[in-house]
Amino acid sequence: VSVPVHQVQDTIRARKRHLIMLRTPLCDLLGIDVPIMQASLGPWPAVELVAAVSNAGGLGTIGAVLQSAAQIRQQIARVRELVGGRAFAVNHSLRPLDAEAFAATLAARPAVVSLAHGNPGEFVLRAHDAGARFIHMVNTVRQAREAAARGVDAIIAQGTEAGGFSGTVSTLTLVPQVVDAVSPIPVIAAGGIADGRGLAAALVLGAQGINIGTRFLASAEAGVSDDWKQAIVRAESEDTTKVEFAPDVFPPGPPGGYEGLPRVLPTAYVTEWNARREDAKRHAQRLRGELREALAEGRAHELIPFTGQTAGMIRTVLPAARIIQEIMEETERVLAAAASSTANPRPRLPR
Ligand SMILES: Cc1cc2nc3c(=O)[nH]c(=O)nc-3n(C[C@H](O)[C@H](O)[C@H](O)COP(=O)(O)O)c2cc1C
Repeated sequence: VSVPVHQVQDTIRARKRHLIMLRTPLCDLLGIDVPIMQASLGPWPAVELVAAVSNAGGLGTIGAVLQSAAQIRQQIARVRELVGGRAFAVNHSLRPLDAEAFAATLAARPAVVSLAHGNPGEFVLRAHDAGARFIHMVNTVRQAREAAARGVDAIIAQGTEAGGFSGTVSTLTLVPQVVDAVSPIPVIAAGGIADGRGLAAALVLGAQGINIGTRFLASAEAGVSDDWKQAIVRAESEDTTKVEFAPDVFPPGPPGGYEGLPRVLPTAYVTEWNARREDAKRHAQRLRGELREALAEGRAHELIPFTGQTAGMIRTVLPAARIIQEIMEETERVLAAAASSTANPRPRLPR
C-alpha cells in the first residue's frame, strides 16, 4: 500500500505540533522534560518514587513534613545518588513549618522548593537566595493572587478532588480562574488528575503542568503498604471522604493559614470520629496521641490514608515511568482527536 508523501509529512507535522505543545515553558523553568510533577506524599516514604519520576523526565518531590533536618538531608542525598543531576523538589508545609528542616533543605540547594497551606511570605526570597525555584500550592484565587505578589515562580492550583489537605473548590473551576488571576506565572493543576485526559484538560484550561498524588501513590515505587495501594485499586471515587474532625487533632496551620480538610479513604477511625465531632473535641488529646503513635510506627495509613477521588480511575499498580509514558501518549492522542473532531464540519441541526 503506498501512502502519498504529503500525507506522511502532514502526520509528522501534526505529531511534532503536539510534542511541542506538551513541552510547556514550565518544563524549561524547572529543567524537566514532561510537565508532570509527583506531589509530595507528606510523611509517607517516597524516595524511590521521587527518583523514578525525575528519571522519567518529570519532577519528583520529597515530602519534608514531620521530617527532621537530618532525615531531609539523608533523603536529598539518596535522591541525588539515584537521579544524578536531574531536578527534583522538596516540599514543606506550614502546618507547621519546621524552621531547622527548612534551613536544611535550602542548604542542600535543590532545584525546586515547594510550599503549602499558608502565605509563602519570606520563604520565597530565602529559596531564591539558595538558587531554588519556588512553587506554591493554593486552594483559592485569593490565595493565588497573594502568592503571585510574593514573587513565586509557579502556582499549584489544587482542587477539592485531591488526596490530602484541600479546600472546597473543584479543579475544573479553580484552574482557569487562577490562570487568569496570575498570568504570566505558570499554573500547575492538581486534584482529580490521573491520566492523559486529565493532562489534556489541564493544558486546555491554561495550566502548564499537573501535580499528581494519588496515581503515584498506587505505583510500584511508592514506599507505602500494599494494602493501601490495593485499597486504592478497589475504591470508587465516592468512597473518599474528608476528615471533618481534623481541626481538632492535626497540628494547627499558621495564623491566616489556608482552611482545608484532608481527603482520605474511610477507616473505622475516620468514620467513627466524623460522626462524633463533639466527642472528638473532648478526646482531642487522645486522638492526637493515637495519630502520633501510628505515624511513628509506620501505620498512619490504617487511620488516615490520604487519598484523592482519582482512586476510582486507578485499577492497577504500575511503575512510575510507565504511568508517565501512558499519560504522555494518551494526552497526545486525545488532543489530536479533539482537534480533528472540532475541525470537522458541524452537524446540521434539523429545522
Ligand atoms: C498521601 C498524600 C500525602 C500528601 N501530602 C502532602 C504534603 O505533605 N504537602 C503538600 O503540599 N501536598 C500533599 N498532598 C497533596 C498533593 O500535593 C496533591 O495536591 C494532590 O495529591 C493532588 O491530587 P490527587 O491526589 O488527585 O492527584 C498529599 C497527597 C497525598 C495523596
